[in-house]
Amino acid sequence: MSKITVIGAGNVGATCADVMISRELADEVVLLDIKEGIAEGKAMDIMQTAALREFNTRICGVTNDYTATANSDLVVITSGIPRKPGMTREDLIGTNANIVKSVTDNILQYSPEAIIVVISNPMDTMTHLVLKACKLQANRVIGMGGALDSSRFKYYLSKALNVPASEINGFVIGGHGDTTMIPLIRFATYNGIPVSELLSKEAQDKVVADTMVGGATLTKLLGTSAWYAPGAACASLVESVMRDQKRVLPCSVALNGEYGQKDIAIGVPVVLGKSGVEKIVEYKLDGTEQAAFAKSAEAVRGMNNVLSDMKVI
Ligand code: APR
Repeated sequence: MSKITVIGAGNVGATCADVMISRELADEVVLLDIKEGIAEGKAMDIMQTAALREFNTRICGVTNDYTATANSDLVVITSGIPRKPGMTREDLIGTNANIVKSVTDNILQYSPEAIIVVISNPMDTMTHLVLKACKLQANRVIGMGGALDSSRFKYYLSKALNVPASEINGFVIGGHGDTTMIPLIRFATYNGIPVSELLSKEAQDKVVADTMVGGATLTKLLGTSAWYAPGAACASLVESVMRDQKRVLPCSVALNGEYGQKDIAIGVPVVLGKSGVEKIVEYKLDGTEQAAFAKSAEAVRGMNNVLSDMKVI
């Protein structure tokens, strides 16, 4: 019996659960929220699509009852506050750090072996918090940001090239922040052709700039942060773990010397399989990309220091 728990039945958590269920990534999905009734209601609503969408996964919703999450193989943490227009992901740290810490303690009490996927923002810092505060092995903690940013990168590239996004390869590394992410345009290809051969320098720069503020653009339009792409990006990452697909996806993971960094969780390409993070893939970055990565790591590290000031780690 395979089991996934999603903590937080808000926009991102419920969407992620919905995509995972439609793909039958586990036998059972548990949706948990602190707000009375919301997880139960959303779970029931999703379950009532079973006859229409023909899936066999069961989903149940609970209000803060961690006994229902017992023996989960994988837990996705989305609980916390989302950003409002004008806010950065970093502005959320004070509230979300305490929520993520207490939620992780509860999860581990009932699912001590679970792989944990962190979505709550600022995501790299929340991933670092889970790793440090709960002293978990590095392979078990995966921060979801790069998969989303890469999907947005492909969206903007597909618009610029006027081709399907699914025919584009490209990824975003570094921190999951408006100024810290690094869309690696040099590695992006359309059916094997480098996009640098197909787009002008100005067009490439615009794709990179639009990708970096991709989340903020949606927050401005929606009045809160986005959910369809974050939910789907998380589900694709979870799929690689649950089905042991060994896909390479950029995720925020603990580095131990890779890319010249230590004691930090930040976005890099990794192989995801049944053990979680099975390998960190080291691309040969050029001098400019290396410098951007070091600068991004410095910014993430600055944010991580707030956790020590808050005494949560
Ligand atoms: N335990 C369980 N659920 C909680 C807790 C808690 N301690 N604290 C808050 N929640 C729940 C809220 O009740 C809410 O239903 O988390 C849910 C968050 O949902 P939304 O407000 O809709 O936020 P969402 O858009 O889903 O974003 C969640 O993901 O992308 C990030 O920046 C985003 O940090 C934010 C997180």
